[in-house]
Amino acid sequence: MRILLLGSGGREHALAWKIAQSTKCEKLYIAPGNAGTENVGENVQIGVNEFDKLKDFAVINNINMVVVGPEDPLVKGIYDEFGNDERTKHISVIGPSKQGAVLEGSKDFAKAFMQRHNIPTAQYRTFDGTMLDEGLKFLETLKAPYVLKADGLCAGKGVLILPTLDEAKKELREMLGGMFGNASAKVVIEEFLCGTECSVFILTDGKNYQILPEAKDYKRIGEHDTGLNTGGMGSVTPVPFATREWMEKVENRIIRPTVEGLAKEGIDYKGFIFFGLINVDGEPMVIEYNCRMGDPETESVMLRLKSDIVELFQGVAFGNLNKRTLEFDERTAVCIMLVSGGYPQEYKKGYEIQGIEDVCESIVFHSGTALKDGKVVTNGGRVIAVSSYGKDKEEALEKSFTGANKIKFTDKYFRTDIGKDI
Ligand code: AMP
Ligand code: GLY
Repeated sequence: MRILLLGSGGREHALAWKIAQSTKCEKLYIAPGNAGTENVGENVQIGVNEFDKLKDFAVINNINMVVVGPEDPLVKGIYDEFGNDERTKHISVIGPSKQGAVLEGSKDFAKAFMQRHNIPTAQYRTFDGTMLDEGLKFLETLKAPYVLKADGLCAGKGVLILPTLDEAKKELREMLGGMFGNASAKVVIEEFLCGTECSVFILTDGKNYQILPEAKDYKRIGEHDTGLNTGGMGSVTPVPFATREWMEKVENRIIRPTVEGLAKEGIDYKGFIFFGLINVDGEPMVIEYNCRMGDPETESVMLRLKSDIVELFQGVAFGNLNKRTLEFDERTAVCIMLVSGGYPQEYKKGYEIQGIEDVCESIVFHSGTALKDGKVVTNGGRVIAVSSYGKDKEEALEKSFTGANKIKFTDKYFRTDIGKDI
């Protein structure tokens, strides 16, 4: 297989690391990749949304499979672009059609889909700009805190949780008034759910599915879940409360109805589904769907996948995922994210990163890095993920923290409490 992987984060380095181990992978390109993906494949300087250039590259380089890392090209319809072009329609795209990616691209669609298929989620209503007064009245019927979600993609910034009714009303006015542009032309207001979150992932060929190891993500910048939301500061798999019994509920009430619902509605979906779940008094409920893997969950989940990932992707592409076996590593895997000081707000880029080669007991996945004059430099908010195996969480965390301390760059920051609450 000649594979083109799209994306440039830690998730893509982890996917590239796993794909490169496959006996079925003859050649791996990553577009645009980062300083780390260059070590496991060949970077190509094409952006993930440059569909014409990606198609030309795929044709010229005899690509058989395109694996899509981030949501943006999926929501913009890369699957359909490849499928509708005579030159590229034979290439398997791992990722849903544009219609399938709406599960992530529109919160309103996702909520209505869950309601249609009886999938447990928070009660909600959706309002557009003509319904401001109704929205304000609806807020008065709810209890604090108030959850407001921009309908469209907002690079992870579109969900607001407000402690008072006054703040919620003010934000609703601003959101419907264009705070996030077209993405907040519609706003979902929903009931606040109290519980611990867990990320569950599947691969589906549209009919069959395989469940990957679950993970817990740490979203806030500060220790003990304080401060601003980030893309994710670390992850741990397995999650202790995701017992066999809990996962059976997840499969029966959430996973199967989702895959069957997509099929019933005629939505073409061949790729990952990321279920953002919350455990409310032992009952799993859906907070959100994503149409891709999580970041930084992938940087721990890939460590626990023993099976050949390209064989699984072939199962997705050929519609026989049920014939493929999924084997897990029983060990714990964790990931600690090293970020640029200032992130998720303003931060500087271009600092030299040293000490990566001194990390011997962990796997280092690059996130926001670049090569400059032969040196690896910081190139984003989230810079490097340090991932480790352990016989238990404590052993894995100790290895990752040792590795995190060996890597040096100006204003480096990481959370030291990842995994300690579960
Ligand atoms: P989302 O983009 O939908 O995942 O929302 C971002 C974050 O907001 C989630 O990871 C949760 O921590 C939080 N959140 C979203 N919806 C709710 C809800 N209904 N109740 C409680 N927390 C929520
Ligand atoms: N870690 C959460 C996400 O990838 O959206």
